[in-house]
Amino acid sequence: MKKWPWWVKTLVILVVLFGLIQLIPFGHNHQNPAVVVEANFDGQSTKDMVKASCYDCHSNETVWPWYSNVAPVSWLTAADVAEGRDNLNFSDWSSNSVVSQELFGAAAEVVSRGKMPPFYYGWMHPQAVLDASTRQQLVDGLQKSAGQ
Ligand code: HEC
Repeated sequence: MKKWPWWVKTLVILVVLFGLIQLIPFGHNHQNPAVVVEANFDGQSTKDMVKASCYDCHSNETVWPWYSNVAPVSWLTAADVAEGRDNLNFSDWSSNSVVSQELFGAAAEVVSRGKMPPFYYGWMHPQAVLDASTRQQLVDGLQKSAGQ
């Protein structure tokens, strides 16, 4: 590699590193556990909105896109899904109505504050980007789900 310009060497090193990080096992597990108890939404339209904006990280029905197989994106996706399911799982809902109410309430709150779905999720999932009126509809639906 003596006579190659510096940028060619840099490129070769980067390509080799990119290949090597693919061998790290973390992020390869894309298992979707069975649905245990589906959240009892107030209706189909709330469920559809939540499916579009939240299910990839907060359910056992994650759709794993091709780039979720490619490190380092695979690490970020795997961590988001694990943490998301830990915090709130629409596929492993509580059958206790008080707990269910609290969970729906927390969901409504983070959506109304604009915290969820995370802004970066919209980069690859434009269907999950909420304009003001859709956001309000989703908040209303989650609050109704809490109140039933
Ligand atoms: C790209 C993945 C992703 C998507 C999509 C997503 N979340 Fe989250 N969510 C997370 C992660 C990761 C956490 C835990 C870390 C944190 O709080 O930021 C979390 C935390 C939460 C929490 C509990 C923590 C808190 O801040 O109170 C709630 C409630 C929640 N999300 C609701 C939702 C709802 C409702 C949607 C859909 C509108 C949604 N999320 C979409 C990844 C996601």
